[in-house]
Amino acid sequence: MKEQLEKIRSDAAAALAAAADAEAVEAARVAFLGKKGQLTAVLRGMGALSPEQRPVVGQLANEIRAFVEGEIEKKKAELAEKARAKKLASGVIDVTMPGRRNKAGRLHPLNKVLEEVTSIFTGMGFTVAEGPEVELDYYNFEALNTPADHPARDSQDTFYITDKILLRTQTSSVQIRAMEKSKPPIRMIAPGRVFRSDTADATHSPVFHQIEGLVVDKGITMANLKGTLETFVKALYGPDARIRLRPHHFPFTEPSAEVDASCFVCGGKGCGVCKGEGWIEILGAGMVHPNVLRAGGIDPEEYSGFAFGLGLERLVMIKYGVDDLRLFYENDLRFLKQF
Ligand code: PHE
Repeated sequence: MKEQLEKIRSDAAAALAAAADAEAVEAARVAFLGKKGQLTAVLRGMGALSPEQRPVVGQLANEIRAFVEGEIEKKKAELAEKARAKKLASGVIDVTMPGRRNKAGRLHPLNKVLEEVTSIFTGMGFTVAEGPEVELDYYNFEALNTPADHPARDSQDTFYITDKILLRTQTSSVQIRAMEKSKPPIRMIAPGRVFRSDTADATHSPVFHQIEGLVVDKGITMANLKGTLETFVKALYGPDARIRLRPHHFPFTEPSAEVDASCFVCGGKGCGVCKGEGWIEILGAGMVHPNVLRAGGIDPEEYSGFAFGLGLERLVMIKYGVDDLRLFYENDLRFLKQF
C-alpha cells in the first residue's frame, strides 16, 4: 500500500509537471484527489490493514494529499504568471501612435450667422422675440395692412391650413404680436422660420429664415433706420461696408425701401459675386405704416417706428460665398465642416 501511495506521489508530480494549461491541471486533480481518484481508492482499502499499520499509512496518505495539493497550487501560479507575461509581451502600447480624436460638432452656418446678427442687435439694445410658425392670417397679412384682396398677397405664395390659419410667410407677423404685448419704446428682433410655396432651386426654398426688426418710439425717423442698418452692416461685414436704400413698396411700411450692402468681395467696384453691380440686396425695410401701429394698439400721432426684414440664408450666402441655398438643408458634412 505504501508503494501504491508513493507511486501516486511520483505519478502526480509527473502529470503536473507536464500539464500545459488549466484543464490539464484540473484533470490531474480529478485523477489523483477526486472522489473516484487514485488516492481515494487507496484509502478505501485501508479497512484491510492491521490497527498498527493504519495510522502509519493514514499519515502517509495525508502527506501525499498535501503534497499533490501543493503541486497543483504551484502549477496554477506558474501558469498564471506565464499567461500574464504573454499578455504583457503581446499587448505592447505604442505611445507614438496618434490618439483617436473625438470629432467636435459645430454650429450650422445659419445658426452661426444668426448668433452673430443677434449679438450685434442685442448690443444695440434690441430684445429677441419669437412668434408662432403656424399663424393666423390676421397677424401675417390683415393687421399688416394687407387685406384679403390686396395684390401684395400674390407675391407670397402662401401655405394655407384653413381660411384663417396659415404657415407664416414672413416674420413681420411678430411685429403685431410684439406691439400687442408691450408699449413703446420697443426695440426687438424676431428671428424665425418662414414658409412659401416655392419650388426649391439655388435661390428659393419653401422653408427659409428671416430676421425681423422693429423699433417704435417717439420721434423715430428714417435717419434712425439708416443709422441702425449701417451700424449693423459694418459690424457684420467690416468697417468699410456701406448701405444704400432704394425706393420699394411693402404694404406695412411707408415709405419703404430695399436695402443693399456694398459687395463684400469687391467693395463696390463690381465683380462676379455682385454680378458687376457693386451692391447686394440684403433686406426690406421702411417706416411702420400708421395702420400697422394702430393694429398694434399704438397711436400713430404719438409714436413712429421703423421695421426691417432680413433673409438669413441670403446673408450667409453672401458672407461665405455659398452659391446654392439647398446646401443649407442637406446636412452634408463635407459642406458643414467648412464653417
Ligand atoms: N416682410 C418683408 C418680406 O418678407 C420684409 C420687410 C420686413 C419689409 C419689414 C419691410 C419691413 O419681404
